[in-house]
Amino acid sequence: MLEIIRRDGLARICRLHTRRGELETPCLLPVVNPRLTTIKPRELYDVFGFRALITNSYIIRNDHRIREIALTKGLHELLDFPGVIMTDSGSFQSHMYGEVDVKNRDIVEFQRDIGADIGTVLDIFTEPEWSKERTAESIEVTLGRTEEAAALKGKMLLAGVVQGSIYPDLRQMCAHRMSDMAVDVNPIGGVVPLMETYRFAELVDVIIASKKGLRADRPVHLFGAGHPMLFSLAVLLGCDMFDSASYAKFARDDRFMFLEGTFRLRDMKALECNCPACLGHDVEEIRKMPDGERTELIARHNLWVSKMELERVKRAILEGDLWELVERRCRSHPALLDALRSLGKHQEFLERFEPLSREHALFYTGSETLNRPAFLRYQKRLEERYVHPSTEVGIIFEEPEKPYSRTMRSVMDTILETSDAHFHVISPFGPVPIELDEIYPISQSLFPNEKDQQTKERTDRLMEDLAHHHTYKLGAIWDGEETLDLLKMFSKGKGGFNIDMARVKAVAEYQFGKGAAEALLNGQVSLVKSKNVDRIRNVLVDGEHVVSMRAEDGFFTLRPAGAKRLLAGIPAPRMRVTVMDDSVEFNRQGKNVFCGFVIDADPEIRLHDEVMVVDQKDTLIAIGRAQLTREEMLDFSKGVAVKVREGA
Ligand code: GUN
Ligand code: ZN
Repeated sequence: MLEIIRRDGLARICRLHTRRGELETPCLLPVVNPRLTTIKPRELYDVFGFRALITNSYIIRNDHRIREIALTKGLHELLDFPGVIMTDSGSFQSHMYGEVDVKNRDIVEFQRDIGADIGTVLDIFTEPEWSKERTAESIEVTLGRTEEAAALKGKMLLAGVVQGSIYPDLRQMCAHRMSDMAVDVNPIGGVVPLMETYRFAELVDVIIASKKGLRADRPVHLFGAGHPMLFSLAVLLGCDMFDSASYAKFARDDRFMFLEGTFRLRDMKALECNCPACLGHDVEEIRKMPDGERTELIARHNLWVSKMELERVKRAILEGDLWELVERRCRSHPALLDALRSLGKHQEFLERFEPLSREHALFYTGSETLNRPAFLRYQKRLEERYVHPSTEVGIIFEEPEKPYSRTMRSVMDTILETSDAHFHVISPFGPVPIELDEIYPISQSLFPNEKDQQTKERTDRLMEDLAHHHTYKLGAIWDGEETLDLLKMFSKGKGGFNIDMARVKAVAEYQFGKGAAEALLNGQVSLVKSKNVDRIRNVLVDGEHVVSMRAEDGFFTLRPAGAKRLLAGIPAPRMRVTVMDDSVEFNRQGKNVFCGFVIDADPEIRLHDEVMVVDQKDTLIAIGRAQLTREEMLDFSKGVAVKVREGA
């Protein structure tokens, strides 16, 4: 059973419950060859802190001596490892050496009998060069075997492998059909050849297709991914587990793994690593070491680098800058840059997991940043939810210092003296209506002063869209006095644009959807503003406090009076999470909504959205923030679906 602890988009920190205790993901399982251990499992556990490893049941079963120990004393004693042990089934051997002489039933039972915590089906490894027909046929066999294994697994968790070569539709189909079976972990298999040949863009397509088909409540293991240069990207796409034989294989070839790639000792002119294995050694010294000692040092180095990168990735999930980390990492190899660029075509899917806002400001790292779902989100919501105020004139400002509305305050006041105007700013996100200047990521983002060609082109395109769609009688780019003279000729009289009122309306629609402003603000609106910084704090309607505006991301926090208005004004299922009767009293007391109690939810809910918790009669029970998407709320049986702020 899986439980999400923290997350950013598809990336997540989870707890996987196994019979050997809880395993935190994302995690790396070092591959231990039971016949040839480079680093002892005990050291992996005690010194490196690896809480899980993977070994091969096929190799154990084929070696008479170790098979007997495994069967009598168990896998954990055989390897001397107190953590979680996952076993593979021999499928990879068939990829390497052709057919294997074992049956699915036998190898699954064997894994169970030697006490594997997670065992693996004998899946058929689908090679990238296979035809679609051959791939489809072999998937049927894999699915049949998965079904068979599910009935045999006993207390062992079962890994059902998603295959499908490079065919996204087959990957998704295979993943989807596995969601009805009693499997506990979903590795994505058949990807080693893609990784070995640096076909990372295709790897991205394969991962995303698989994720689309899979249930959300199972950990996804990227089979054979052991290079730290890939971890951040794979985690960003929702992979939870990795396994590495590379650390040892590369070490035997005198190859060091780094975030930038793999380097041969004989080519290295220096070693700048201060990991516990390398500390105090230089390349000359390492070259002169006896073979065994050198291999061990490099293997340890490879493990430390991998371990540190996973810790870095976790930190990024916690702090909200995983996209930045991935974009930086993907610059270390052109093939990774291709992978990063290929994310552009998956924006729609990624947007479904994009949080409303993050604690960390969005940093621009290069033109690939423009493909982030945060950009698509803003563009879509503006298009679908924003209503231009009906002023005569639209003025456009070149991007001023942030926050825009503060910097341009006196200019806007001057213009409004003579003209019925509204204002936009040209930003890298496209045109920003001045009243939306404080929402995430408009205000919470940093770009270089000198914009690159792609940013300029994108901005130009979006400005052109605005030129086609606005309803102003006159549109002008602000150019100081000259524009003011033009405005004086065009229309005399004062403008009535009130940025505070416009902000409240625009944010309500942007955040809650069409019709929300009308539902929320119908009546006598009054604003409570903070004295020192002149920001909206609370919005009252007919004396009732309906929403508060957050300083961090410019969005609203819903109050019970506001929720009641929204509930009456916008139809179900919008912004609602419907809970079972069993949960109602609990949530009414202000306690969180847990996954097992969710009946349904609005598919448009995004992470950290303000939502209304309702019962089956659509009565308001509580308000809080969504921690999961609708599918996740329904798939997971454990964990918080809505962090409740107050009961109603
Ligand atoms: N190890 C690396 N790739 C695979 C795969 O596709 N299936 C299994 N069972 N093990 C693997
Ligand atoms: Zn090192």
